[in-house]
Amino acid sequence: MDQLLVALDVDTRERALELADLLRGTAGGFKIGSRLFTSEGPSLVATLADRGDRVFLDLKYHDIPTVVAEAVRAAARLGTWMLTVHAAGGRVMLEAAADAARQRDRRPLVVGVTVLTSLDGAELGRLGVDRALPDQVDALADLATAAGLDGVVASPREVERLRARLGQAPTIVTPGIRGGVDAGQTGGDDQVRTLSAAEAVSAGASYIVVGRPIIASPDPLASARAIARELDARKPQETGDRRQEAGEA
Ligand code: C5P
Repeated sequence: MDQLLVALDVDTRERALELADLLRGTAGGFKIGSRLFTSEGPSLVATLADRGDRVFLDLKYHDIPTVVAEAVRAAARLGTWMLTVHAAGGRVMLEAAADAARQRDRRPLVVGVTVLTSLDGAELGRLGVDRALPDQVDALADLATAAGLDGVVASPREVERLRARLGQAPTIVTPGIRGGVDAGQTGGDDQVRTLSAAEAVSAGASYIVVGRPIIASPDPLASARAIARELDARKPQETGDRRQEAGEA
């Protein structure tokens, strides 16, 4: 199932490759975040890409424009399929990231992170952001797409609104997926507001990112297959329903 991306939030190359080998064909790609990347480095990205896997490199670049552009080029050289930057890096940084990606033959998708799910309105206020959290998300999503990024990362609480706001073209990547298949298997969970995989795609997500419900499951392949089946079983008329309600094609 192309839309299911599995977060390889593990510490070792061995475990990451084991999971990738197990889930290849069921998952549409694998997310490598700062935890695994810091432990195991770029060679793991290249290994997975060389095996034909789509690698979503979630390092949330946020630096001066030239540094981010070079990081995007380096990620593209490794064979990265999609990567993240912080939209809060500003227009010039975002344009530099988008331009750097476009210069590659195998152009990676570049998506912008708006507001981290760990931040709330009070924390935004302490950072000097006075507008409400959803308004900040909207503003950063507008900035990211206007700067030429391919899309944004959006939590389940935002995906429907952002799809209506941004239209059909931008990629929207949504973490925070939970549902019946993983009930009770993710103790101590920090995902606050969740949607099931099918709900997230129906709300407008292009891709869903699922970590612990799969990788912490006693049977990761069965859990991944259950989510893939849930996505396959979506009634065709569900697709775009909410977008049509929002007045779009
Ligand atoms: O919760 P789960 O293990 O499915 O998380 C998958 C991905 O979702 C993580 O790799 C992280 O990037 C993201 N996440 C998030 N907000 C949280 C927890 C996880 O955006 N509160």
